[in-house]
Formats: sequence, C-alpha cells, structure tokens
Amino acid sequence: MLYKPVIIEQIQEQVEGFKTFTFKQGHGIEYKAGQYITFVQQTLHESIRRSYSIASAPLLNEPLTIGVKRIENGAFSRQLIDHAKPGDELLTIGAGGFFTLPDEAYNIRQIFFLAAGSGITPIYSLLKTVLHFHPHIHVVLIYSNPTPQKTIFFSQLNELKEKFSDRFELRFLFSNSANLLTARLNRELLVQLTKAHCRFRHDETLFYLCGPEAYMRMCTYTLQEEQVPKENIRKETFIIQGKQPPKKEPPDKNDHTVLIQYGNENYQLRVQYPDSILQAAKKENISLPYSCEVGRCGNCAAKCVDGKVWLSYNEVLTEKDIQKGLTLTCVGHPVGGDVTLKI
Ligand SMILES: Cc1cc2nc3c(=O)[nH]c(=O)nc-3n(C[C@H](O)[C@H](O)[C@H](O)COP(=O)(O)OP(=O)(O)OC[C@H]3O[C@@H](n4cnc5c(N)ncnc54)[C@H](O)[C@@H]3O)c2cc1C
Ligand code: FES
Repeated sequence: MLYKPVIIEQIQEQVEGFKTFTFKQGHGIEYKAGQYITFVQQTLHESIRRSYSIASAPLLNEPLTIGVKRIENGAFSRQLIDHAKPGDELLTIGAGGFFTLPDEAYNIRQIFFLAAGSGITPIYSLLKTVLHFHPHIHVVLIYSNPTPQKTIFFSQLNELKEKFSDRFELRFLFSNSANLLTARLNRELLVQLTKAHCRFRHDETLFYLCGPEAYMRMCTYTLQEEQVPKENIRKETFIIQGKQPPKKEPPDKNDHTVLIQYGNENYQLRVQYPDSILQAAKKENISLPYSCEVGRCGNCAAKCVDGKVWLSYNEVLTEKDIQKGLTLTCVGHPVGGDVTLKI
C-alpha cells in the first residue's frame, strides 16, 4: 500500500493540551465531513497507526485540519503536541469512517450533536457542513467541558450561533458551574434538553455523539429509552481498547478462499477461523487499510460482492450499511463458502 504524505503548514493551540494541525494543500486526500485520517509511524519494532478526526469542512474548501488532544502517556499524541512543527511530514493511509451525513439528507429535519471535550472535532466539521449546505435542517449542539476557557472552538461556535441564529441552538455545559443541575450531562438533563429542543419526529431527527466512553454509553441508552431509533444514533469512538474476545462463534469455522480487489490489485488468500480476513492478509504480507483492528473505526470497510462474511464484533456499520454489502475485514470471517471483496 502506498502511504500518502501530508506536510504540516500550521499548528494552533486551541486550548491547553489540544492543538489543531493544518496541512499544506496538494496532499490529494479526499474526505467527507465527520471522517478521520489515519497516520502510520514505523518505529524500530513495530508500525503504529493512529486516527485523528478532521475538523475542517471539505465543502467549504477549508484546508485539511485535524485536532489532537495530548494523552499523558500517549506515544503518538505527545509526539505531535510536544514536538511537531510546520514543515514536518506525516504518513497517512488516507481518510475513512462512517461518522458522516447520510447521502440523502432531504428527509432529515433536525440534527442533535452531543459532544464532550475533544469529541467536538468531527462534530465541528459536520456542524459547519449542515449549517452552510443543508438549510432545511435545524441543528442543536450540546457541548460539555470543564470551563469556557477549556472549550475547544468556543469563539468559532459562538460566531456560528450568531450567523445561523434562526436554526442553530447552542448549549454549553460547564462542569465547574455552580448550578449542579446543569453542570454535567446526565440522563435527566439529556431528556430535558432533547424535549425542550426537539421540533420534529424522532424518525426525522439524527443524533451524533462523540465524547468519552461513559458519556456516549449514557447518551445512547437514554436516547434509546426515549424511543430514538438505533439507526438514527451515530457514534464516533476515540478510545480503542485492546482486542475484544469474540462474543459469539461463527456458524462455520471451515477455511474459505477470499478474493480481494483493492484498487488496481487482486489478491487471493485462504482464511481459516479464528483468523479474520485482515489477520490472514497480514500473514501473507498483503497490505490492506486498517486502524483499530477491533471493529470500532470502520477503516477496514470493504464491499462484499460475492459470498457471506460473518462479523465477530461491529460498532460502526448500521443495518443499512450491511444490507448494502458493507463489511469489516478486521473482524470479518468468510462463512458458507468463498467470498469476493472490493475495497
Ligand atoms: C476513529 C477515531 C478518531 C479519533 N479522533 C481523534 C481526534 O480527533 N483527536 C484525538 O486527540 N484523538 C483521536 N482519536 C484517538 C487517537 O487515535 C489516539 O488513540 C490517541 O491520540 C492516543 O494515542 P497515543 O499514541 O498518544 O496514545 P497510546 O500510546 O495509544 O495510549 C496511551 C494510553 O492512553 C489511553 N488512551 C488512548 N486514547 C485515549 C483518549 N482519547 N483519551 C484518554 N486516554 C486515551 C490508552 O488506553 C493508553 O492507556 C481517535 C481515535 C479513533 C479510533
Ligand atoms: S480496522 Fe477499525 S473497524 Fe476494522
């Protein structure tokens, strides 16, 4: 696989411990609002991959910009925040992810964005895109942070609020607030806020969530209890835990042939459970796209054009995506016969 280089043009500290990195034009990376790019770094012993959401909106022709939070003991984020400088080159496998707007948004009347901390990064790109290019959609952003000073894009969000005041409702929550009832987003407050701001039916409303795991879990359960269809709740998870044990076993553990059409190349390999398609490809030194390797980021998505792929875990593809034939190679196993995939 050919890695694409990107060159840092500008670095801006937005709040303490969080910087945006803007890259020089001419990198040739195509992306949609809400997606991320995945970087590859080769160390002496291993190749590490890290994904960062894109804060820029491609339809506004903004230069490619990512947002990075410094993780105390983090290998990659500390390097970027503490040492990277304009002119540095990073290698990427390009953009990916399913935290995007639906291809056909005409029947969507309202979008709720629920963000906490650095989770605003992909939501900022989506928010700008919806406000500028989907004038029929009403937007609510509920954004949690410790204080206004620690709120990423605070002034930019207030400017958007001014500009689109007729259809953009902006609600900041600050955990240091004296009013404990509105300081942290909890079940009761979320129900109260969605009821207060909801203008349309649940099936005409989408919810986009990005924040710490416990925050997203609470939001998901609460929205589902409030009868929001699962399909209308989109999530982006930043924290990838180690390999998850498969929760269930495939209906067929026999080995099968998998044909993979990737760009202009065709590959053929035998895949034997418990190896996933990606694991089998790695053993054959076939370089396919991937990032998390646990069914949570969508970077390894492929279209299954023949045969059947069973997924041991899936947090990214919706029922609709699966019906369209999309699958994940990192947690995908061929079952019932041979399989052909297109990437
Ligand atoms: C789809 C996707 C999009 C992402 N978008 C962004 C983004 O826009 N901005 C951003 O800053 N990060 C984002 N991340 C997280 C990013 O990819 C890295 O995981 C993160 O920067 C940590 O990498 P590291 O090498 O510095 O830390 P590592 O060396 O991988 O980890 C060090 C320790 O920190 C923990 N850890 C890892 N990630 C986090 C986290 N986010 N918060 C707290 N603890 C953590 C690990 O469990 C580990 O204990 C995204 C991840 C995914 C999968
Ligand atoms: S590599 Fe992340 S879902 Fe497969």
